[in-house]
Amino acid sequence: MNDLRTIEASQTLLINQQSKKLIAEKKTIYKFGFGESPFMPPDFVLESFRKNVHRKDYGHVQGDLPLRKAVSKFYKEANGINISEENVFVAPGSKILIFSVLASFTKADVFIPKPSWVSYAPQAKLAGHNLIPVETSYDLKWRVTPEAVEQSLKKKKHQSSILIINYPGNPDGLSYSENEIRALSAVATENDILVISDEIYALLHHSDSHCSFTNYHNKTVTTTGLSKWCGAGGWRLGVALLSDELGEEFKEAMIGVASETYSCAPTPVQMAALEAFGSYDRVKPYLNSQINILKQLGAYCHSKLSETKIKIHLPQGAFYMLPDFSDHREKLASKNISTSGLLCKKLLEDTGVVLLPGSAFGLEPNYLAARLAYVDFDDPLKKTDFNLHRDCTRVVEGIEKMCNWITAL
Ligand SMILES: Cc1ncc(COP(=O)(O)O)c(C=O)c1O
Repeated sequence: MNDLRTIEASQTLLINQQSKKLIAEKKTIYKFGFGESPFMPPDFVLESFRKNVHRKDYGHVQGDLPLRKAVSKFYKEANGINISEENVFVAPGSKILIFSVLASFTKADVFIPKPSWVSYAPQAKLAGHNLIPVETSYDLKWRVTPEAVEQSLKKKKHQSSILIINYPGNPDGLSYSENEIRALSAVATENDILVISDEIYALLHHSDSHCSFTNYHNKTVTTTGLSKWCGAGGWRLGVALLSDELGEEFKEAMIGVASETYSCAPTPVQMAALEAFGSYDRVKPYLNSQINILKQLGAYCHSKLSETKIKIHLPQGAFYMLPDFSDHREKLASKNISTSGLLCKKLLEDTGVVLLPGSAFGLEPNYLAARLAYVDFDDPLKKTDFNLHRDCTRVVEGIEKMCNWITAL
């Protein structure tokens, strides 16, 4: 069979399997490779799921109406997003919603920041589009700038343009200020770009100051869901909010893709989601507790890695960072480590620390950066107090191993 697509399995899932294999062999592994929330969903959400397991019928393709209403109200309260329930989509994960947006176009230019989340580029490829990278850099805190977008627009081939942005970001844990969003939205508006704003980590912004793109640009699809802020990735519940100006034709195309692919989100999960999205005030203390922990962990990892001259920015949200080993290039080269893939392989072999190579996120293979997800700990939310050294020992130990490794090279 030589007519198969060349889409590889997602590198994040592969690294998770590799880590599980090493754990099964009783090796000590620091699982910083897979970005899964360590937190449990709130009890009232779990309870609703349990109570609704018997709900076995198919739901509405776009998502059941009471849930869409709740989502619309919730994101108005949380991020000031003003989108009615008619323009809310609920699906089994936001990943398939991002794909549905892409698949709603026959041919488009898709602008993808370099680096960015592993699945955007393969999805755009699967949908048959023209991929155009948008350059960013460590010095610009991996931000997409209006100038970089304008530069990429020169490579445009098709009528429709789609830009995907993600903040707080995977792989860097960084976000945009309101001024940066304004500047970026001006370029998007001027060039009639549909923006997929992946805001799945918005509620885990470390200083609770997330600015939603859709409030500045009227051709935006905002994607989010329960996977990250509610710790329920395996439940598969994603949400898309289509700005009203995108129009009925686009919405119908999305419904078409949805109905011919995933059909609907699982009904018991939609019932649990109805509780989760029931009231922003109700989940705020739960979010604050997570943020308190993630902020301390981000600051800890940042300070330790900086001490060993690994270039690193203080995370502003979510649970990721993108350590940049460029200043250790010569030392690494002397050990035949010349790519981020080899860096991660050797680090795993020598220390048990799992990172994901920067190349998985679209960086050039010889750029020595890797993504670190500081989530290898058990949910401490039920404890009365939080102590990083007591409650996140695997993160503390893993970071120490990394630092000792790079120092001793
Ligand atoms: C940036 C980003 N977007 C989307 C997703 C997918 O989320 P979901 O579980 O809603 O499909 C992830 C999951 O890791 C992610 O990191």
